[in-house]
Amino acid sequence: MPTQTVWITGASSGIGEALAARFARDGTNLVLSARRENELKRVADRCTDAGLDRDQILILPLDVTDWDALPGAVQTVLDTFGTIDLLVNNAGVSQRSLCKDTDMAVYRKLMDVDVMGQIALTKAVLPHMLERRDGHIAVTASVAGKVGVPQRTGYCAAKHAVMGFFDALRAEVEDDGIHVSTIVPGFIRTDISRNALAADGKAFGKVDDDIAGGMDVDECAEVVFNALKARKREIPVGKGKEMAALWVKRIAPEVLFKLTKARN
Ligand code: NAI
Repeated sequence: MPTQTVWITGASSGIGEALAARFARDGTNLVLSARRENELKRVADRCTDAGLDRDQILILPLDVTDWDALPGAVQTVLDTFGTIDLLVNNAGVSQRSLCKDTDMAVYRKLMDVDVMGQIALTKAVLPHMLERRDGHIAVTASVAGKVGVPQRTGYCAAKHAVMGFFDALRAEVEDDGIHVSTIVPGFIRTDISRNALAADGKAFGKVDDDIAGGMDVDECAEVVFNALKARKREIPVGKGKEMAALWVKRIAPEVLFKLTKARN
């Protein structure tokens, strides 16, 4: 089998970084994208430490909200590696603020990064995959894309939106040979709460208890890596009670609504 090319956004930290390190051990070509080039270089070093050749790594800084730059970025990847076999739309930002306090600009930013950015990059990559009648597109959604929880009205709205978009996209393109996976993490120990937006748009700046008690990020990456290899359509990953919320929402929504209110 020819060497595969995997493009990961949000690769400068957390789940994206851990996933890059896991794919590095698999010998795939890697495209590492996020906004901070110096952090991407650090992740690239981690990938070479894991055994990947340096010329199998493309550091491609980008901001997923800069739609105009995305077609050029796709071309750069194709010029470098020839194909894009798997795109992992993982870049994202969370929220820690009550609706009543939250600036509208915060809602717009959550939608721009967590929804529109994923759609824009996916649309830029799709023609290449449709032409080859082969490819795999994943998105890091969230349990917050299935369940509404306090302090995250905008984040839950955004993650529900990407779940809907990628489930619908799958129905459109699966018969064209393109696989679509939605990754549904619970609490994973990363900088997600530290980087989350507070009511005024500033970083929340703290690791909250949910995240501190979450699954180890490399353990998460191992689960996601194996599920992506198996081309699973939906990939729940987590170890805490939040994972039970996925099925409680389906079979007993009234119970779930009481439980989430109790978290307020
Ligand atoms: P993180 O804060 O460590 O990583 C977020 C990544 O996205 C970073 O690389 C950041 O630079 C990048 N990013 C943010 N805005 C960007 C933009 N405009 N353009 C390009 N890159 C941008 O947090 P984590 O946990 O690794 O988050 C990764 C994904 O996992 C996110 O989509 C998040 O919503 C999702 N997630 C995380 C959970 C957790 O408990 N850690 C739970 C459920 C979903």
